[in-house]
Amino acid sequence: MMAKNAMAGLDRILTLELVRVTERAAVAAARLRGRGDEMAADQVAVDAMRSELNRLPIRGTVVIGEGERDEAPMLYIGEEVGTGDGPKVDIALDPLEGTTICAKNLPNSLAVIAIAEKGSLLYAPDVYMEKIAVGPGYPAGVVDIDAPAIENIESLARAKGVPVSEVTACILDRPRHARLIEEVRGTGAAIRLIGDGDVAGVIHATNPDETGIDIYLGIGGAPEGVLAAAALRCIGGQMQGRLQLNTEEKVVRAAKMGISDPAKVYRIEEMAKGDVLFAATGVTDGNLLAGVKFGRDSIQTHTIVMRSSSKTVREIKARHQDLEKF
Ligand code: FBP
Repeated sequence: MMAKNAMAGLDRILTLELVRVTERAAVAAARLRGRGDEMAADQVAVDAMRSELNRLPIRGTVVIGEGERDEAPMLYIGEEVGTGDGPKVDIALDPLEGTTICAKNLPNSLAVIAIAEKGSLLYAPDVYMEKIAVGPGYPAGVVDIDAPAIENIESLARAKGVPVSEVTACILDRPRHARLIEEVRGTGAAIRLIGDGDVAGVIHATNPDETGIDIYLGIGGAPEGVLAAAALRCIGGQMQGRLQLNTEEKVVRAAKMGISDPAKVYRIEEMAKGDVLFAATGVTDGNLLAGVKFGRDSIQTHTIVMRSSSKTVREIKARHQDLEKF
């Protein structure tokens, strides 16, 4: 049944339209895979995503984007996108999530977007966010951002019915995580250290059978946290996030975006409430999504697209033969 909201009637159509948006961005970025130029790859993805977004029948506002207006010429926070007809929606996007992994042609860079009813995504400043996420099927509260890593890992192992040694945590490989990494390894659990790309890291935790990852832990970008929360609203799973507002300047910036409690722990529904649509297309090959493949007469893309109201998760493998579009 269709939810009664600003997007009602359009959300089913928009779900599939969104695929075109991330496909276009992914193909553009993929042409610059492995060239060692993060900025160029990001720029072409931004351009492609923006031109496709502007064809959607929406009155969209970018709330999580490439940065604030003075630092991002396009898809900046507050930019209006879409044809200007249709529902008012908020948009969180990252045309190239994992710029460095794309530049190095390593796994799991994505083109990502989420669309939600106006006012239903967390307006997060571009700061860090501490995150913890697990997939669906576990009892509520199986992990807690305030609990020590050992408790979370042991609780998850019990809930999964496996020894701790069969649990794998995904953590960004950063010096700031040295202690966390030591604690998790101390439990006997395994760690998949990733160089970048924690939207993929969180999504991977929702499908351990395919990805081998049971839990995502650690500090990454807050915008990426909101995007990941939007995905989890559709797939299921548990996630908590806490902004890292560790300077007065960040507290003030966050306050301007309506965040009054700097230490607040956000649940998924507080980062992405209401009806949410989410799409991601693989740029480089990854655990869940294949990267863009350039053939002699066609281009292939692999996209995951989902809708919170129906909880439908679709994977779309597309072969594009009208190459002029790309
Ligand atoms: P970019 O696509 O902007 O390069 O972000 C990649 C990323 O790894 C995110 O997935 C993650 O949330 C963030 O950077 C972590 O930030 P940092 O590299 O500063 O640790």
